[in-house]
Amino acid sequence: MSRHWNHQPLLIKTAAPGEVTEAVKVAIDAGFRHFDCAYLYHNESEVGAGIQCKIREGVVTRQDLFVVSKLWCTRHEKSLVKAACTKSLKALKLDYLDLYLMHWPMGFKPGEEDLPLDRNGMVLPSDTDFLDTWEAMEDLVVTGLVRAIGVSNFNHQQLERLLNKPNLRFKPVTNQVECHPYLTQKNLINFCQSRDVTVTAYRPLGGSSEGVALLDDPVIQRIAQKYNRSPAQIVIRFQIQRNVIVIPKSVTPTRIRENIQERVFELSETDMNDILDLDRNFRMCTLPTAKNHKDYPFNIEY
Ligand SMILES: NC(=O)c1ccc[n+]([C@@H]2O[C@H](COP(=O)([O-])OP(=O)(O)OC[C@H]3O[C@@H](n4cnc5c(N)ncnc54)[C@H](OP(=O)(O)O)[C@@H]3O)[C@@H](O)[C@H]2O)c1
Repeated sequence: MSRHWNHQPLLIKTAAPGEVTEAVKVAIDAGFRHFDCAYLYHNESEVGAGIQCKIREGVVTRQDLFVVSKLWCTRHEKSLVKAACTKSLKALKLDYLDLYLMHWPMGFKPGEEDLPLDRNGMVLPSDTDFLDTWEAMEDLVVTGLVRAIGVSNFNHQQLERLLNKPNLRFKPVTNQVECHPYLTQKNLINFCQSRDVTVTAYRPLGGSSEGVALLDDPVIQRIAQKYNRSPAQIVIRFQIQRNVIVIPKSVTPTRIRENIQERVFELSETDMNDILDLDRNFRMCTLPTAKNHKDYPFNIEY
C-alpha cells in the first residue's frame, strides 16, 4: 500500500495477527454490538472469526449484532457490486449485512490494486457514476444480502444528488464521515439530519499516532477531569449527545471497555459548546491522491 495513502488502514498496519479477533471478542463481552468493517481493511475474516466465536459461545445471536461493511472504490461498476458484497459476507462468515456503505463517492479503475495510481502518483478513476453504483447496492437490499444501505465521505451536494435521484428505491440511512472536536461537521450534520439521514462519526478520537493528539487537548482534558471521565469518554459522549453515531476503534482491552461507558452521563450545554469551539476544520482523511477525481468530496466547504 502506498506511503501517501492517507486513509484508515490502522488495523492493517498496527494489529498483529489474531489481535483483531481478540479485540472483537473483548468488545462483544464488553457490550459492543455495532461493528464497522470494510473490504479495504483486509481483516474481515478476523472480525468474522471473533463474531462466530461469540455466537458459538452463546454470548450473542446474529440478530443482536449490527455489522457494517463497505464497498471499495475499485468495485463501483454495477456488475462488480454483488460479488464485492458477497466477498465481504464470506470473509465475515455472515449471510447478511445490517448495513452496506459506499466507502467513497469516487470510483477507481477496477483491478486487484486497492489504490491504482498513474505515473504521477494520482488515482486512476473509473468512468462510473455513484448513482449507478447505488442502483446495484439497492439490488442487494432487494435480494436480502443487506438490510440497509448508506454512504461514506459524501459531501452535502453529493448526498443531495443521491436523495434527488429519480426512481430512488432506498434512501441512504447514514453518511459516515470524519468527525471529532477539530472537525465538528456542523453544517454537514445539520444538512444530513434535516434530510433524515443519520451521521456516523469516524476517527472520533483523533486517530492513531499518525493522527492528532486530540485527547491531550487542554479543553478536553479539563472537561474530562470535571466529569471524572477519560478524554476518550468525553469525545465519544460529545457525539452521542448531538445524535451522531460514533465508532471508536481500539485493540486494547482496557480502552475497549472504557469506550463503551456503561454509566451514562450528560455534558452541560456550556461544555458541549466549548468542545464545538475547538473546531478548526482539521481533516485527516483527505485521500490526496484522489484530489483530481471528478467526485472528490472535499473541494467544497461541506
Ligand atoms: N469511512 C471511512 O472512510 C473511514 C475512515 C477512517 C476510519 N473509519 C472507521 O472509523 C473507525 C475509527 O476511526 P480510526 O480508527 O481512524 O480512529 P479513532 O477511533 O479516532 O482512533 C483510534 C486510535 O485511538 C486509540 N484509542 C482507542 N481508544 C482509546 C482510549 N480510550 N484512550 C486513548 N486512546 C484510545 C486507538 O489505540 P489502540 O487501538 O492501540 O487502543 C487508536 O490508535 C475505524 O476503525 C473505521 O472503522 C472509516
